[in-house]
Amino acid sequence: MHEHLTVVTHPLVQHKLTLMRDKDTSTKSFRQLLREISQLLAYEITREMEMTTRRIETPLREMDAPVIDGKKLALISILRAGNGLLDGVLELIPAARVGFVGLYRDEKTLQPVQYYYKVPSELENRLTIALDPMLATGNSSAAAIDLLKKSGAKNIRFMCLLAAPEGIARMRQAHPDVPIVTAAVDERLNEHGYIVPGLGDAGDRMFGTK
Ligand code: URA
Repeated sequence: MHEHLTVVTHPLVQHKLTLMRDKDTSTKSFRQLLREISQLLAYEITREMEMTTRRIETPLREMDAPVIDGKKLALISILRAGNGLLDGVLELIPAARVGFVGLYRDEKTLQPVQYYYKVPSELENRLTIALDPMLATGNSSAAAIDLLKKSGAKNIRFMCLLAAPEGIARMRQAHPDVPIVTAAVDERLNEHGYIVPGLGDAGDRMFGTK
């Protein structure tokens, strides 16, 4: 994947995203739509995985058939909203290894602080896909990717549902080697750090909190 930013403009993705943005969409529908979109984004983000062939026998003859090369990929959920993307992607790639990164923002320093970190072994040999639906300031995403690189990850991609220009710029500056796949790039961040027009708080909407 050579582009730093890929916007998945497929009509199914765009239609589902519009339903998710609507403030009257229920928690149940929001979660279901996120699951569906995550699979379409996963289809795009895995497009250039390394392939090899395996000798198999069909009922008619032998053939060298294509299979994905290398170690199982790693999906990294950035808590808590990343879990909403994780469920759908795991349905599509059930053998993937899974990690979790928990960060909160220190009220005084405004810097991300780690409260949970558990990732699969041998990240250096795995395609590593970080999942977070909302790329807002990009500070926590950039910090999460710093941690993954410290754990050895070399081939990292970032999947989100919505991105703000500010978050894309932050990621481009901090991690130009990490391609971003998103369903849309919105206008801007507001003074509270929410993406506008956005869809509100993704975690609250998918888990029914607040
Ligand atoms: N996180 C969210 O859930 N929503 C935003 O708009 C920005 C960050």
